[in-house]
This record gives sequence, structure tokens and C-alpha cells, in this order.
Amino acid sequence: MASFSAVELIIAKRERGELSTEAINWLVQNYVSGAVADEQMSAMAMAILLNGMNRREIHDLTTAMIASGERLDFAALPWPTADKHSTGGVGDKITLPLAPLVASFGVAVPQLSGRGLGHTGGTLDKLEAIHGWRAALSNHEMHRQLAEVGAVICAAGTGLAPADRKLYALRDVTGTVESIALISSSIMSKKIAEGTDSLVLDVKVGSGAFMKTAERARELAQTLVALGQDAGVKTTALLTDMNTPLGLKIGNTLEVEESIEVLQGGGPADVVELTVELASEMLRLAGHGDVDVHANLKNGKAHDKWVQMIEAQGGDLSVPLPQARESHTIMASASGFLNRLDALQVGVAAWRLGAGRARKEDAVQFGAGITLHIKPGQAVVAGQPLMTLFTDEASRFDAGLAALEGGFDIGSNNEPFNAFGTAMTPNRFGGSGSIVIDRIEG
Ligand code: URA
Repeated sequence: MASFSAVELIIAKRERGELSTEAINWLVQNYVSGAVADEQMSAMAMAILLNGMNRREIHDLTTAMIASGERLDFAALPWPTADKHSTGGVGDKITLPLAPLVASFGVAVPQLSGRGLGHTGGTLDKLEAIHGWRAALSNHEMHRQLAEVGAVICAAGTGLAPADRKLYALRDVTGTVESIALISSSIMSKKIAEGTDSLVLDVKVGSGAFMKTAERARELAQTLVALGQDAGVKTTALLTDMNTPLGLKIGNTLEVEESIEVLQGGGPADVVELTVELASEMLRLAGHGDVDVHANLKNGKAHDKWVQMIEAQGGDLSVPLPQARESHTIMASASGFLNRLDALQVGVAAWRLGAGRARKEDAVQFGAGITLHIKPGQAVVAGQPLMTLFTDEASRFDAGLAALEGGFDIGSNNEPFNAFGTAMTPNRFGGSGSIVIDRIEG
């Protein structure tokens, strides 16, 4: 392999130069082996964040990160595979109802998930609220569960894209997360190495998302879809609204409860809508587009699959979910309409109450979080409950309340807007009714 100097490559990117395929391969391999130091890779990540990469460079970076580890192969399964990835939001529990719903139609879902950091929750933290549930599965156990149940949600093993694992930890502490080149290569290296046939991406846009504007979200979505297509994975992205939390419950136990409501045919309209939209797209890509997705939420088939999926990983759904010891309800100070409820501020408040973690090694409180009593677009009367905060430690209420300050508006006119500035139509659960803003197909 050609040899390069890390300093010269950093300077080239600093000066807005283009890195060759050989240079990118060399950089990634030598970073994983330790020959390129963390401080050099930090400088490179910052140069990439500031000056960007073209599509060819992003493709090469993704390919090099995939090559740093193992690739899973589900070709031996008797059914097609489809997966979903969300760029992360507040109250985003969709993976929980989605995986069993899609599996209930005969499409296998290998869902490798992560833990929460900062204001966004992690799917594994939510499922660990269920007594006995186990996140860590070997590749063999994962294959067996996919063959027997058709759905698995588990922790990504250390063997998949180790270059991304190392680089993501570095980006997290060097202010270099929000780069389209780095986010897209990070996400797609793991998803391509995971070996799914099709992939649906939920790219969030709004205050609670990485991408605050529709333009940036669309650019990220287009980059992700192109990377998937290049690798032979059928890929679609949906741009979805993350200006206000998804559903009515934010927090680990709370989100499991809401997911079960959806699997039993109920639940808030926005959660049902996004679950059905994503499931329909996954099924379409997997060649099962002509099914009634709603039906399996109503007839118990998706719920039966959920029970099988949880029990296969040791979960005992007969044990009550852990509940918070303390609660505090915020009342409306005026009558009118809830016009805005900021996703980021609700996410930060839930995190401060104990639902999330500040450092990877911190524990989460399963019962902590927030239940919303109304959503933007609904009418409210002074003195009516707006939301209830939950935590195990009453001393955390001050920090939770401070995080919510200025985070919602009650006005005399009903004028909630989604991330595109389009007025939202209130529905019976107060959801926007227009959660999918755009669709980018390969
Ligand atoms: N999720 C990832 O896996 N990687 C990123 O860079 C951002 C979100």
C-alpha cells in the first residue's frame, strides 16, 4: 500500500484539497492500528467538518471503515431483510413497535442499536427497562433469533466497523460530530457491514435533531441514500419533523409503555403514523408492498411478534416496568392553544431528570422522563396539566424545570408549524398529522 504522511494529508484537507482513495485507505487503516495518533485524526476530522468532502471521498471513507471490520451475511435466511436507522430525536421509540410489525409480515429485521448520549435516548436503554432483557447477543444468537422469530434488536458487536467506533468516540469529544461527510460515512459503514438487503433512513429535521434545517437534512439524506445504492443496499430516506417530541412519553420505561400501546392498536397518532410509514417503506423495498400495515397493529400479530422478540432475549413482560419515585406536574398559566413545544428543551429536561446520561459510563434511571398531556395544536385552559416530570430524585426537578424555561408558548391563535414552516393540522391525539416532510428515493 502507498505510504502517506498524516500531517501532509491534514494540511491538504485544511487547504480544501481532495484526498485520494489511496490516501483515505491509508489514513483509516493507520488510525485503527494506532500509527496515526488521536490528535492527528482530531485535526483531520475538524478539517473535514470545516471544508467537507466530495461524494467520491465520502464513498471511499465509508468503504475504508467497512473494511476495518467484519461483515454480517443474512443470505441464508429464508426471508428478505430490512432495517431502519434514525438520526436520533426526542421521544423516538419507533424501533420498538417497528421491528416486530415488519417481522409480522415475513420480512426479517436485524436492528443493531445503540445507547443514548446527551438529549437523545438510546433504544437499548429503553428495552433494558424490561426485566431480564439482554442487549448483548453473539452473531450466532442473532442469526438464530432472526431465523426463529424474524426480529432482533441488539447491541452492535465490536467487530462491525471498528474504525467508526474509534472515530465516533473522538468526534464526540472534539466538536466534530455535525459533519455530513462524517455522519453519513459513520452511519452507512455500520449499516452496510450489517448486511441488510434494504434500509430505510429516518432523517430528523428540527430543533431536537442534528440537522436543524430542511436543507441540511436533505443533503444528509441524499448522501446516505447514494452510499446505500453504491453498496447494493436498496435505500430510501424519509425527512421527518423533530421540532416537537414524538408521541406523549419521553423516557425509558415511558417509551416502552407507549410502544406497547401502539402494538396493541392504540397510541398517539404521530407515533402510529411514523411507524406505519417506515414499515410500509421497509416492506415495499423488501418486495412486500401490497399489505395492510395497520391491520397487524389492530389484530395482535405485531404484538405477538413483540412478545416473542422480547422473550427470546430473556425479557419478562409480566414484571411491572420500573416507575419513578417522584413526580411534578406543570400547569398551563394561560388559556389558548399550545403553539410550540421545543423538542430539544424537552429532551434536555428528560435527560436532567435522569432518563439520559452525560458520559458513556453513567447509569440511566428507567422511570425518569416526561409525559405530555397536550401537544402543539391543542387547546388548553389555564390551570390544566401541560406535562408531568418523573425522576427518582426530587432534587433533579429544578434542573428539569430550568431546561424547559421558554420551551413552550401558549397563544390565543392556533398556529403550530412544522420544520418546514407549514402549519400543522391538529388531530385527535394532538399530533401534527404531517410528520413526514419529504422522501428521498434511490
Ligand atoms: N449516528 C452515528 O452512528 N454516527 C454519527 O456520526 C451520528 C449519528
